[in-house]
Amino acid sequence: MRFAVIGHPIAHSLSPELHTAWLEAAGLFGCYDLIDVTEQQLPQIITKLRIHQLDGINVTIPHKTAIIPYLDRLEPAAQKAGAVNTVYRQDGQLIGANTDGIGFVRALTERRPSFQKTLVLGAGGAARGIIAALPGDVTITNRTEERSKAVADEFGANVLPWQETFDLTSYDVIINTTSVGMAPHIEARPIELTETHALICDIIYRPTPTRLLREATEKGLDTLDGVPMFVLQAAEAFERFTGQAPDLALGEQVIRKQLEEF
Ligand code: ATR
Repeated sequence: MRFAVIGHPIAHSLSPELHTAWLEAAGLFGCYDLIDVTEQQLPQIITKLRIHQLDGINVTIPHKTAIIPYLDRLEPAAQKAGAVNTVYRQDGQLIGANTDGIGFVRALTERRPSFQKTLVLGAGGAARGIIAALPGDVTITNRTEERSKAVADEFGANVLPWQETFDLTSYDVIINTTSVGMAPHIEARPIELTETHALICDIIYRPTPTRLLREATEKGLDTLDGVPMFVLQAAEAFERFTGQAPDLALGEQVIRKQLEEF
């Protein structure tokens, strides 16, 4: 079996080591590569999938939307998000899935089995995938308000203007989907944590914890970093690729070790 993650430019990715460890642990003979693919080369990758030279791919920036016209069918979550991060073959058809949102919501509900009100910071591609999969009452705030309005209209969420300080008292979950706090700007944080009881989540995993999560911990709040989400989105892809559920604890161990070395 041969799998790959495609993107352009393809940066260092955590996916190959993770999927390789899972393939080995499952006793499956296969490999998982990193392939730099321009938009013009997408048809070649699709051909490789159709003629079984590749058995599945993960798709990253900038191809998550551009790949859609080449596929035979989309899973509902990918349809709803308008973005695909996983392509697999089933009964001779190429199917597009979006496991980013599913992975995040699985990680979240394992930590908080029930919650009502969520505040999402950011309205970019990552936010869309998560909002499409989030249950309950969702409020979006984004520096550029046209973007939060457009996403909120599409998914039936509420909009809050981006502010200096927010009243956070009514939220059960707060999720940072912006790039604020990501390396190298590790001293930045998207918002100040005023009084709240919420679980604070950050999808950033370089670094982990981010300043936002460090401050949350100092305030005694529960936190969720980007690692479980990363592992679970990959696990959802692995299950579609191989029909087997991977070892999640092994996955988290592989990712945390890679992040330490990075
Ligand atoms: P991704 O696909 O990873 O979500 P993106 O579509 O570029 O990437 O979105 C990045 C998000 O981070 C956006 O919500 C962006 O806000 P804008 O829509 O106003 O650009 C947000 N973001 C980036 N830098 C920011 C900053 N300095 N302050 C606040 N929000 C920021």
